[in-house]
Amino acid sequence: DLADIGVTGLATMGRNLARNLARHGYAVAVHNRTHSRTQQLVKEFGGEGTFVPSEDLAGFVASLKRPRRAIIMVKAGAGTDAVIDQLAALMEPGDMIVDGGNAHYADTRRREAALRERGLHFVGTGISGGEEGALLGPSIMPGGSAESWEALGPILQDISAKVDGVPCCVHVGPDGAGHFVKMVHNGIEYSDMQLIAESYDLLRQALGVTPSELAGVFREWNKGDLDSYLIEITAEVLEQVDAETGRPFVDIVVDQAEQKGTGRWTVQSALDLGVPVTGIAEATFARALSGHPEQRAAAASLAGPDLSGVDGRELVEDVRQALYASKIVAYAQGFDQMAAASREYGWDLDLGAMATIWRGGCIIRAKFLDRIRAAYDADPHLPTLLADPTFAGALAAAQESWRRVVTTAVRIGVPTPGFSSALAYYDGLRRDRLPASLVQGLRDYFGAHTYRRVDKEGAFHVDWSGDRAERPA
Ligand code: 6PG
Repeated sequence: DLADIGVTGLATMGRNLARNLARHGYAVAVHNRTHSRTQQLVKEFGGEGTFVPSEDLAGFVASLKRPRRAIIMVKAGAGTDAVIDQLAALMEPGDMIVDGGNAHYADTRRREAALRERGLHFVGTGISGGEEGALLGPSIMPGGSAESWEALGPILQDISAKVDGVPCCVHVGPDGAGHFVKMVHNGIEYSDMQLIAESYDLLRQALGVTPSELAGVFREWNKGDLDSYLIEITAEVLEQVDAETGRPFVDIVVDQAEQKGTGRWTVQSALDLGVPVTGIAEATFARALSGHPEQRAAAASLAGPDLSGVDGRELVEDVRQALYASKIVAYAQGFDQMAAASREYGWDLDLGAMATIWRGGCIIRAKFLDRIRAAYDADPHLPTLLADPTFAGALAAAQESWRRVVTTAVRIGVPTPGFSSALAYYDGLRRDRLPASLVQGLRDYFGAHTYRRVDKEGAFHVDWSGDRAERPA
């Protein structure tokens, strides 16, 4: 019998996705470059459903029902093009190739266009939720044509996470839209984690509490506005004790954060689109700073403040507020970036739907996303999430705490780039007049770059080196 759908690339994510499909009653064609991995999957999990194993790609493609649906789960990069080429050569018009890796959306756009020419559908899809999500229900963000969505959508929704019975999977938009949205998801993931790390660091340094005591604080926070997967697992990680040394686990891990690139891509794209995603940028740069041990060693003896601790009765609640406010800012920025890309590429993204499919399955899943969805339900053209009445109210309630947290951090010399830059963004956006007018004046002075006036139309230039009179440019 022919398989309903296939998965090639059976590392952890691919294997678990294949099992998820099989558990939902689909006959799943499975293939891996090293065949033993395929055999292992069938041997270990064959009882979970119907797997159709193949030793080579030709056999894999031949084992699929038409129109064929093949999911590639290989490490993003040059290898992906090779697998796509091999698959495409074996396929026929109307067949679908789905790339479920963390590919760059520009690669996805290029691949989609190339395969469309050959009558094939290419669907770049974000899949979030790690190992466990892939198996039990991830958040799925597919791009590609409306036609491919018709054939794939029901299966993807079937295996995705559900929140209140609603699948965490919608058709995101054409070509690279799915991978773009997954990229921003990961950027926000970076920012969420940085803010959590700053909260932990500041409280530990300022109050002298232990990681396991802080685990309790995060567990408490997880009952309120901050209720989310990342806060939940923060408590678990902080509580962990190293078996070998008996020390807190966070103290035996090398303090250099690594990355595979999606956060960096988010920032690169934001620079091109002109969207200030300062939260994601600071998180990405904080990882970069941590990764330069030679500079850190050279700077270790630089002067710092005399003050080390503070009287912290209110600090815990203040940090909770700062974390929530900064999180609102980071998400507002990420959603702005999706809106800008949607305009740039003509994707017609439904921002409320993106919040909906991130409510479950993915790494940034959180109660909070319900509120974002409600904000876009109330006003689909909201210029910034900060202006939504619910968020505006939350920011108003948090801002005094937020300022105290940044002040305290500065006073005792604990770096909080996430909190500080988010607050600067908030203060910048709410300003009546910004000093950008001075920047414009300077640009006009040295480069005759011209400026616009507040009281009339047109571009103007001052003859700075001559009579200093203004003339229309
Ligand atoms: C997810 C995760 C997943 C992966 C990140 C890690 O949504 O399931 O985001 O995609 O864990 O890409 O990224 P870094 O290695 O860059 O931190």
